[in-house]
Amino acid sequence: MDLILPQLFANEPLTLAKSSATVAYLAAAVLFVLSLAGLSKQTTARGGNILGIIGMLLAIAATIFGMMVGGYGMMVVAIAAAVIVGAVLAARVPMTGMPELVAMLHSFVGLAAVLVGISSHLDPFQDVPASELLIHDIEIFIGVFIGAITFTGSIIAFLKLRGTIGGKPLTLPGRHAVNLIMAAACIGLGVWFCRESHTDGGQAMLALLLMTAIASLIGIHLVMAIGGADMPVVVSMLNSYSGWAASAAGFLLKNHLLIATGALVGSSGAILSYIMCAAMNRSFISVILGGFGGGGGGPSATVEGTVTEFSVDDTVDMLKEANSIVIVPGYGMAVAQAQHSLAEVVKILSAKEKQVRFAIHPVAGRLPGHMNVLLAEANVPYDIVLEMDEINDDMPDTDAILVIGANDIVNPAALEDPNSPIAGMPVIEVWSATNCVVMKRGLATGYAGVDNPLFYKDNTQMLFGDAKQNVDAILRSLQQDE
Ligand code: TAP
Repeated sequence: MDLILPQLFANEPLTLAKSSATVAYLAAAVLFVLSLAGLSKQTTARGGNILGIIGMLLAIAATIFGMMVGGYGMMVVAIAAAVIVGAVLAARVPMTGMPELVAMLHSFVGLAAVLVGISSHLDPFQDVPASELLIHDIEIFIGVFIGAITFTGSIIAFLKLRGTIGGKPLTLPGRHAVNLIMAAACIGLGVWFCRESHTDGGQAMLALLLMTAIASLIGIHLVMAIGGADMPVVVSMLNSYSGWAASAAGFLLKNHLLIATGALVGSSGAILSYIMCAAMNRSFISVILGGFGGGGGGPSATVEGTVTEFSVDDTVDMLKEANSIVIVPGYGMAVAQAQHSLAEVVKILSAKEKQVRFAIHPVAGRLPGHMNVLLAEANVPYDIVLEMDEINDDMPDTDAILVIGANDIVNPAALEDPNSPIAGMPVIEVWSATNCVVMKRGLATGYAGVDNPLFYKDNTQMLFGDAKQNVDAILRSLQQDE
């Protein structure tokens, strides 16, 4: 008894620390779930973000102080460096550059999963019971596999979103067979790895590294095969992969919160990918397998005709005469930062008893909800901001449409030309309204690099110039009339 009691007390602080960490992890997991629920609606998104931040702080604190971790000095240096890099990047990156940043962050999660997996295989101090050795090996292998695909796939997505690599899909002959062969090779290497893992460390490491190289190629090939307009789906898909990679790392590190958080990211990313696929009229399976978005294979229809140009005064006259007005914002509005002046224009028109509404395409701009965020920032009332599906049927009864810096999302070729790279993608049918004014600087193509026949339609007029300068001019003209 004399011997046992001191031992129990000696372990007490450790047990206490562990159970406090478990409670903190549970609280953090609940906060993450509440955060996701909050983020699902614009009105509660800010609160959702705050809950997520609190959950993450709690999780970091519990990991640092609650578990058996050492090397605090090194940890402080690593965290300080990460905080500085993160803060500088977040402050510098414009809203239009967010998808690139997100893709880059996904690649970090993938790389972390690869490194955790390899180091877990190398760690001789792990006390894994003999009955669980096989499961442990499979965890390592799957974690490294998903991590490597996420890492290289995200880097390619980053380069594509940045424009360093062109948006055209790389469609190698027999690409699905190539993917299948690479996947089969990885399964074979997995069997080899599990067999040698506890007998011949060198052979097992070779199998693990070979699989990492092949999985990295799969990541590159999957994302290279995807066309420009379909990149939003790829970003959310990689988001999902990064979640599963984190979850796999959580199993290896025996960290329950990392498992839960990874599963939350993985499943919410998968749901988002599914929603995006439905919105873009793409098959979910084709996205997972890569290589779609290239159109029907034949040459696209030639786009030609005469462009009708409008002045600011013409546009103001059209708005004054219209009773129902729909505004379709796109990436160009984000670049020009025209949302604040636009909100003032909407206030004036609404005060004149006109029905003014916004039509939001699911992939307008460069990140999910991009336009909603900008309009919320400019205090545009939520009830006049409608999703494409809610408003598309009203287009024929609309007197005037203002397309501000949008292009692909209002391209009729998606519905009219089966060979167009964006064929089948639902678009906002602005051409069915009585009048449509498109505000952009020239006739340049949008992100998907596809010509737009809308600009040449009889009821379309082009108001050329920077969206902010033109919206400001429209605002001044409307204010003078008051
Ligand atoms: P885009 O098709 O990219 O067209 C934007 C247009 O804005 C350009 O054609 C450009 O024409 C114009 N523009 C640029 N700067 C401007 C300025 N200062 N003033 C006025 N106009 C300006 O945008 P969209 O219609 O929003 O479609 C989004 C595209 O991005 C889709 O293809 C989508 O798949 C892709 N994408 C979306 C996401 C997400 S999640 N939303 C992520 C990645 C990619 P000018 O140069 O002639 O002015």
